[in-house]
Amino acid sequence: MSVTMEKIVSLCKRRGFIFQSSEIYGGINACYDYGPLGVELKKNIKDFWWKSMVYDHRNIVGLDSAILMHPRIWEASGHVAGFNDPMVDCRQCKARFREDEIDPKKLAAGQCPRCGNKDVLTEPRQFNLMFKTHMGPVAEDASQIYLRPETAQGIYVNYKNVLDSSRQKIPFGIAQIGKAFRNEITPGNFIFRTREFEQMEMQYFVQPGDDIEALEMWKERRMAYYDKLGLNMSKLRFEEHGPDELAHYAKAAFDVEYEFPIGWKELEGVHNRTDFDLSAHQEHSGKDLRYFNDQTRERFLPYIIETSAGVDRTLLACLADAYEEEQLEKEKRTVLHLSPAIAPFKAAIFPLVKKEGMPEIALKIYDDLRGDMNVFYDAQGAVGRRYRRQDEAGTPFCITVDSQTLEDQTVTLRDRDSMEQLRISMSALKQALQDKIKGE
Ligand code: GAP
Repeated sequence: MSVTMEKIVSLCKRRGFIFQSSEIYGGINACYDYGPLGVELKKNIKDFWWKSMVYDHRNIVGLDSAILMHPRIWEASGHVAGFNDPMVDCRQCKARFREDEIDPKKLAAGQCPRCGNKDVLTEPRQFNLMFKTHMGPVAEDASQIYLRPETAQGIYVNYKNVLDSSRQKIPFGIAQIGKAFRNEITPGNFIFRTREFEQMEMQYFVQPGDDIEALEMWKERRMAYYDKLGLNMSKLRFEEHGPDELAHYAKAAFDVEYEFPIGWKELEGVHNRTDFDLSAHQEHSGKDLRYFNDQTRERFLPYIIETSAGVDRTLLACLADAYEEEQLEKEKRTVLHLSPAIAPFKAAIFPLVKKEGMPEIALKIYDDLRGDMNVFYDAQGAVGRRYRRQDEAGTPFCITVDSQTLEDQTVTLRDRDSMEQLRISMSALKQALQDKIKGE
C-alpha cells in the first residue's frame, strides 16, 4: 500500500513527531513544532550529517554563525536584488501563486489553478523572500535587517577567520547546521516547504580549475550518504538545472531529488558557486579575501562547491521511506522501518506483567541502557499493543522481561522489521544492541 502525505501527517500528530505550530490559537500557516519523537529524529539526522561531514573528513570543520547578520551581506550576496519569486494574484478568488508554478498548458486551456479564470490574473510582481525585521528599539529604515534565507553566507563571511584559526589548506570545507527563513509565496505539503526551516550546508573551498572535479566528487558522496542513511536508492536521482533555472550564484547545479508521496522533489542542492560569493564580499567589505598558497606564493579567490540539504525535508523523506502498513493475519500493523542510527528510541523495555518483580528488573535494564542510548520504558496494557506502538514510533528493538527472566536472567529481544524474537542473556544485551545499532 502506498504512503500518502495524509497518513504521514496523521502518524506524526498521533505519535508526537510533529504538531501544527500555535495549534490552540488556530495554528499559523506552514509553521510546525517537533514533538518528543520528532525532536529526537531530527537531532539524529543532524548528528548523522555532521558525522558524515565533520568527523569523517580530515579537512572539514564546523561553524555556527548568527542568524542576524550585517544587512550589507545580503546586498553583496545578491539576495536583496535577486532573491525574488514572481507573484501572481487572482482578482476573482484572491488566490496567490508563484508564476513559475502555474502550468502553462492548463492556463492556455483556460484553467487557472484554483477558480479556473485565467483572465483575472494580475501581472507578475517580484516578491522578495527575505523576512525583514529591525535591530534595536527604533523601527527606521537604517535599522532594518533580515532573517537569513540560507546559512551559507555565514560561512563565506567567516571563511578567513576559520582559515586563520584552523590551519586548513585548500581544499577544505566548512559545515554548518542552522535555521533559515523564507517568506515563501506558496508554502505547503506539510514540512516540505515552510517559512522557517533548517539547513545542513557544507561549503568546500577549492583551487579554481579543480571545481568541476570537486562537484563530481561531492555528487557521489552525497548519494552514498543517502544510501547510508537508509533511503531506498530507487527513489533518489539527480536533476541538473538548465541554464534558465540556475540561481544567480551558480555555474552548475544539481538537485538531489527524492520521490516523495507528492512526486519527485528537491531534497538537496549541489552547486558550483565559483568565486561569486567571495568576490562579492571582497568588493562590498573592502577586505582582501584571497587565499595565500605559501608554496606557489600565489593569491587567489577560491571556488566554492556547496552541498545544501534541508533538515525538515530529509526528515520527511525518511518518514515517507520508512512508512509501511503491513497486513498481518488478524490485523494491520503500521511500522516505520527507520534505520537504527536515526530512530528516536533505539529500544523499548517492557515487563510482561506488572508483578513478580518484573517491573523492577525491566527498570534496571532501562536505567542501565539509558546512559548509552535513548530507550523507552512501558508497562501499560497488553504487550502486543506495546509492540505496535513501538513499531509506529520506529523503535528497532523491544526487550521483554518475562517469567523465564526470573529463572535464567534472559530476556526476549524482538526485531521490529522481522518481528522475530530471540532470547538473550541480560549481561550480553547492551553489547548486542550496540552492535545492531551500528549495523554489525
Ligand atoms: N545555500 C543554497 C541554498 O539555500 P536552496 O536550493 O535554496 O539552496 C537548499 O536550498 C535546501 O534547503 C533545499 O534543497 C531544501 O532541502 C531546503 N529548503 C529550501 N527552502 C525550503 C523551505 N521553504 N522549506 C523547507 N526546506 C527548504
